[in-house]
Amino acid sequence: MDSSLRKLLPWFTVMGLLVGALIVAAFYKDQFREWKIWQRVHIKQELARAVSDAQREAALRIPVEIRQIVLPDLRRVDRCITCHLTVEDPSYAGFKQPLAYHPDHAQHPIEKFGCTICHQGQGRATTREAAHGHVEHWEQPMLAMQYIESACAKCHLPSDVPNAPKLARGRVLFDDLGCIGCHKLQGVGGVIGPELDGVGARHGAEWLGKHFRNPAAITSGSAMPPIKVGEQDIEALTLYMLSFTGERLSDYYVSMKTIPGADAGRRLFTEKGCMACHSLAGVGGKIGPALDEVAKRRDTKWIIEHFRNPQAVNPGSIMPRFDLTEQEMRALTEFLLTKTDPNIVGFLRIPALMTPIQRGQAVFKKYGCAGCHGAGGMGGVPNPNAKTAQQVPSLKFVADSYTKDELKKRVLNGQREIPSLNPKGPPPPLYMPPWRGRIAEGELGDLVVYLMSLMPKEEKVTF
Ligand code: HEC
Ligand code: HEC
Ligand code: HEC
Ligand code: HEC
Ligand code: HEC
Ligand code: HEC
Repeated sequence: MDSSLRKLLPWFTVMGLLVGALIVAAFYKDQFREWKIWQRVHIKQELARAVSDAQREAALRIPVEIRQIVLPDLRRVDRCITCHLTVEDPSYAGFKQPLAYHPDHAQHPIEKFGCTICHQGQGRATTREAAHGHVEHWEQPMLAMQYIESACAKCHLPSDVPNAPKLARGRVLFDDLGCIGCHKLQGVGGVIGPELDGVGARHGAEWLGKHFRNPAAITSGSAMPPIKVGEQDIEALTLYMLSFTGERLSDYYVSMKTIPGADAGRRLFTEKGCMACHSLAGVGGKIGPALDEVAKRRDTKWIIEHFRNPQAVNPGSIMPRFDLTEQEMRALTEFLLTKTDPNIVGFLRIPALMTPIQRGQAVFKKYGCAGCHGAGGMGGVPNPNAKTAQQVPSLKFVADSYTKDELKKRVLNGQREIPSLNPKGPPPPLYMPPWRGRIAEGELGDLVVYLMSLMPKEEKVTF
């Protein structure tokens, strides 16, 4: 052997040993991959539960392998079940994670929904850290469980999902606090703040919570007033914001929130033969009540429950139980409601209310006037440096200073320039937006009746 080669021999030996060690290390690392450990725990558990040889053999045959759900329509591949192996096995109810049974998944079959559409996180990853999304460069960490209901609104109407009370609360607060007065959502609303579509993808829960408590501390000079509600309601509002992810899902997934219009209802009304027993505008049968003004007697919830099972709502009713889908029930309800009152806009939003004052109150809410003028118009939010006590004025006494027609004009025209208290200071951040072209004529009539009614009776001066 060449002498120089001989000199290298010890090095070859060292290298050989090193490579060997690396192979052994890789083997162990592979054996003890986190997910393999959980799969073995699962097999052990199955073995412990086996009561026959056949069951024992079946347990031993469970392969140790990556498992995944391929969801082309959701553009995802979710491997969460590589560790969360028993989500569909009720005998694992209450078992330690990740081997616990998943509650309530009957409505959302795992092979169609996977996991990340609700939980977020990184579907393809096979380590816990990465899958749960607590790693750098991954935009969507797993949703904290306290906000999980925000996911429901991707596919359901927030006001219309059973089992999502926090989401429903967020929606109610959004309406009551008049956020829409300053913000657009799905093309509707004010122009003073940014559009809120997609805001859940722009900001996390922590930012949102802090911003609600004191907007100006987060965005300096913000015109948004601090939102004065309790901690639970801040959480509900935050959860509701997180639901605006801007994701677009295919028809099947969003079928629960596409409310078919009144036209679909009209078609069904004819097809299903409702006219045999009910009349509209004097045409049709007399076995059941005329339905022209049904919305004055019944609300949407009652009507839907009644479709589901007339006898459960009205014992002894002879109205047949039609085999209607959720969608068909909604379409029929929408149709019946708009028949009663053309002012009703949107399913489950402005219900058919009886008096013009009540309808006007709903219009006040729909356009978010409360966001600036306070609940019931009773006192506005801060408007620094505005002459009117540095706040947006209450609307309590408009009946004193305006006629109906003047008030209509005032609302339609808005007011861009707000007189300053100190002309040298910065101008007041809030102004009255013009509502022309945004509020329908019928709505405006009701709104003005409502505003006029705000003045307490005993304070009305008669000359
Ligand atoms: C490598 C194994 C592994 C993978 C892959 C994995 N998980 Fe987990 N998961 C665990 C373990 C272990 C726990 C229990 C410990 C913990 O809470 O972190 C857990 C807990 C959870 C919890 C409860 C957390 C809580 O705050 O109560 C949720 C929700 C969850 N996983 C969802 C997912 C989703 C969604 C995926 C897929 C994107 C996923 N997991 C992928 C191992 C895994
Ligand atoms: C339709 C939405 C949805 C889908 C899809 C979904 N989950 Fe969940 N998950 C939830 C909700 C809601 C809860 C809370 C249930 C409760 O507390 O009653 C939950 C609870 C959990 C928990 C327990 C968390 C805890 O704190 O106890 C784990 C773990 C989990 N899910 C993992 C998964 C995995 C893995 C998948 C996919 C196989 C999945 N989820 C699919 C909505 C979903
Ligand atoms: C990716 C879309 C999607 C998400 C996210 C989602 N759902 Fe659903 N959900 C559906 C669809 C689609 C159906 C109808 C399934 C069917 O019947 O084929 C449904 C059905 C239901 C039903 C039964 C129908 C009803 O109205 O009684 C309930 C309850 C329900 N979902 C609650 C929830 C809750 C709670 C959440 C959030 C934790 C949630 N869903 C998240 C799409 C979704
Ligand atoms: C008087 C007008 C006004 C009202 C009422 C109002 N906001 Fe705002 N909002 C703004 C302005 C102006 C901004 C932009 C400055 C800032 O970030 O604070 C903003 C910012 C936001 C942002 C951050 C948007 C982004 O893309 O960064 C969110 C989220 C938000 N508002 C939610 C709400 C909610 C929810 C309500 C009702 C509880 C509400 N706002 C009521 C004026 C308003
Ligand atoms: C065989 C006759 C019959 C048919 C067909 C029928 N109904 Fe009825 N319906 C009744 C009777 C009787 C009542 C009153 C008792 C009750 O409330 O169940 C009623 C009540 C109602 C009510 C409540 C009215 C109120 O003011 O309380 C609604 C809404 C309604 N029906 C809608 C429909 C629709 C929509 C269809 C078609 C899909 C339909 N009905 C088909 C007999 C019928
Ligand atoms: C972005 C905040 C904002 C929103 C939203 C808003 N307003 Fe105003 N409004 C104002 C400001 C600011 C003024 C002018 C106050 C002043 O002169 O200082 C005003 C003035 C008015 C006035 C005149 C009050 C008076 O005493 O002369 C009426 C009436 C009024 N608003 C009604 C409404 C109605 C109805 C809505 C909902 C459709 C609405 N406003 C929505 C900010 C708002």
